[in-house]
Amino acid sequence: MNSNYAVEFQNTTKQYDEILAVDNIDLKINTGEIFALLGPNGSGKSTTLKMIMGLVQPTSGSVQVLGIDVKKDPVAVKRQVGYVPESPSVYEFLTGIEYLDFIADIYGISPADKKQRVNEYLKALQLEGREGDMINSYSDGMKKKISLISAFLHKPKLLILDEPLNALDPRSARIVKDLLHELKSQGVTTILSTHVLEIAEAVCDRIGIMYQGKILSLGTMGELRKQASLPESKLEDIFLKLTGTGDLKPVVEELLR
Ligand SMILES: Nc1ncnc2c1ncn2[C@@H]1O[C@H](COP(=O)(O)OP(=O)(O)OP(=O)(O)O)[C@@H](O)[C@H]1O
Ligand SMILES: [Mg+2]
Repeated sequence: MNSNYAVEFQNTTKQYDEILAVDNIDLKINTGEIFALLGPNGSGKSTTLKMIMGLVQPTSGSVQVLGIDVKKDPVAVKRQVGYVPESPSVYEFLTGIEYLDFIADIYGISPADKKQRVNEYLKALQLEGREGDMINSYSDGMKKKISLISAFLHKPKLLILDEPLNALDPRSARIVKDLLHELKSQGVTTILSTHVLEIAEAVCDRIGIMYQGKILSLGTMGELRKQASLPESKLEDIFLKLTGTGDLKPVVEELLR
């Protein structure tokens, strides 16, 4: 079955033994949008993203990615998608440049394109000069940046980024936001997760609020705010939970500039 959406979940459920991590979601992500899955810890965001990548199999229901059924052709999906996991396990015993070379070779990127793209992203993310150092000497933020670059290298049509701005300083978060918007202008779709409302609002076109494995609400920030102020709205409580702490204030201010 072909789909006009970048990603389409249909009655998708994931049960881990006794835990219902994702509960019968129907979710359609438009091509070219930047979409946030916003929800508190344990609400099912990472599980949802892993199902897009075929890293977790739904217990029932289906996931279509770029018109491909993930279950039928997981390799075709991986070829066209860039993924940054929540805690990226980059090879600690390689240098940054060796790791990026290795990833580029897996995707069969030509030497000229590899050099040009790696240099461009190292520069954009301010890792220039550190690419020859061992990854085990990098800070968490630097590891996150290497992982982001490795996801961008093969020019994927879809980016799946699990908490991409974690560990990034305000300026770096801003650079990543700008990169995502630049890629959007080229038609790239991004789906990211966050538990911080202000980050979702500052970076994304549309937001899906996840809670206890369900998509409770979906829309632009303005639409969600309207729903949250409805009488007896459960959303209001969730909004309170999802509001970032003071620590994130500088990041959010930079993202909004
Ligand atoms: N491999 C697993 N085996 C068993 N249970 C799991 C597994 N992965 C996730 N879960 C459970 O599924 C639920 C959803 O987890 P998930 O990691 O998807 O949440 P999340 O929204 O990404 O949370 P966080 O904000 O903390 O990253 C949780 O109750 C979690 O304990
Ligand atoms: Mg998670």
